[in-house]
Amino acid sequence: MKKVKIGVFGAGRGQTMMRYCLLNPDAELVAICDKNEKLLDARKKQFGKKGKNIRYFSDFDTFLAESGVDAVVLANYANDHAPYAIKAMKAGKHVLSEVLPVETLKEAVELCETVEQTGKIYAYAENYCYFASTREMKRLFDNGYLGEFEYGEGEYIHNCQPSWPGLTAGGWDGHWRNVMSAFYYCTHSAGPLVHMVRGQGVRPVKVSGTEGPYNKRMKDMCAGGASVAVEMVTLSNGGIFKSIHGLGLSGNNIWYSAYGTNGRAESAREYAGYTRKAPLYCLYVNGGNTETDSLTETHKYCPKLTRRARQFGHSGSDWYIMNNFVRRINGENSDTVDVYEALDMYFVGHFGFLSALEGGKAMEIPDFRDKKVREKYRNDTRCPDKNKAEEGQLLPSNTQGGWVIGEAEKEHMKWRAANPLKRGKIKSIIFEMKKYFNRGRVK
Ligand SMILES: NC(=O)c1ccc[n+]([C@@H]2O[C@H](COP(=O)([O-])OP(=O)(O)OC[C@H]3O[C@@H](n4cnc5c(N)ncnc54)[C@H](O)[C@@H]3O)[C@@H](O)[C@H]2O)c1
Repeated sequence: MKKVKIGVFGAGRGQTMMRYCLLNPDAELVAICDKNEKLLDARKKQFGKKGKNIRYFSDFDTFLAESGVDAVVLANYANDHAPYAIKAMKAGKHVLSEVLPVETLKEAVELCETVEQTGKIYAYAENYCYFASTREMKRLFDNGYLGEFEYGEGEYIHNCQPSWPGLTAGGWDGHWRNVMSAFYYCTHSAGPLVHMVRGQGVRPVKVSGTEGPYNKRMKDMCAGGASVAVEMVTLSNGGIFKSIHGLGLSGNNIWYSAYGTNGRAESAREYAGYTRKAPLYCLYVNGGNTETDSLTETHKYCPKLTRRARQFGHSGSDWYIMNNFVRRINGENSDTVDVYEALDMYFVGHFGFLSALEGGKAMEIPDFRDKKVREKYRNDTRCPDKNKAEEGQLLPSNTQGGWVIGEAEKEHMKWRAANPLKRGKIKSIIFEMKKYFNRGRVK
């Protein structure tokens, strides 16, 4: 197997992919690019100590031209992946893109065209497809055990308020996390469901969207999106699923369920089945004879993670995105998400938002595999980002009157960013410890 030379663009979340290269024999970290000098210096110190020969860049074009990488990992701003993916593939590099794949439909057209013209590998790093539970759900649909997909739910609820000042560097204006609609960050909830039916030749075709309140928490965070978004999605086989995701509710949960013609599988709720040894998450499966009233076979699937995956975040799923990408570069048919599937996942939210703006009217989800279908969207820049939306195409960040941020909130956010809450760190350690020691306990 060839050792793949990797360059990482974005030195925050990008550290996960850097670690992969350090711990695995099939990849070598040769370059890092970030315009944030502080972050870049931290990486220099970290890898310098380890005696690693890595080149550092602050400009993407120079990084592309001089680093000699085979593949680029895009861990830059979530609303800015497509332009850099296009540049990298045109320069002959394979691309692993963090979430999200695109910000506008215009970018989506250009991204598909670039993948087709260059023949480079494009993989979408939707890590939530690779939890023990979601991988097993996909396997049970692929091998026919659960039958044909009929109904499912995907949930990604993450109260980001404690970490928001750090995540947005206190920049209330302009950071993608503050600008985006709640619908856009949809691929953690919808992605695994789209991925598990892919083997059945099924894809999402229609969506109706609605959003929760633009609440005090989001306003305090100086964010423009609503607290939560919900999409009801129809699939090409007539099946349906519900995708719910948001950053502004009062807790956290990640959860999936799927009903097929022969049975059902659902992951454990975070506060029910979560254990350190079998993280994210155990899967409960019911199958067997559906003609009798009860499903005769029931089992719990709680695998131990492999030694390698155990060292990676998001319950080991982060290991799979890199490993499967590197194996695909080396000619294996590994389980990656290609550009069309990435768009199937993302369009659930993009068109869900357009639907919500029209009071929940169902919207067709176009199939960008078809060149004629996507042509219609070549000049479509509708989005809430003023740097991308062309004249007359700027959307609000929510359906409830747009972005309303008071001066006091802006000041507070700036102050919080400048004075990182040690309390925040301590609180989160206590939270994790409580979760660990209370696992399995019912009050
Ligand atoms: N899959 C997951 O579980 C997961 C978790 C966290 C973050 N992410 C994704 O990872 C990505 C990065 O998120 P983050 O948390 O590190 O925060 P971020 O988006 O604020 O950071 C991006 C980094 O890219 C750098 N950057 C952006 N544009 C640049 C340019 N033109 N030139 C040089 N450097 C540039 C910034 O300086 C910054 O350090 C996002 O796409 C996010 O969606 C995914």
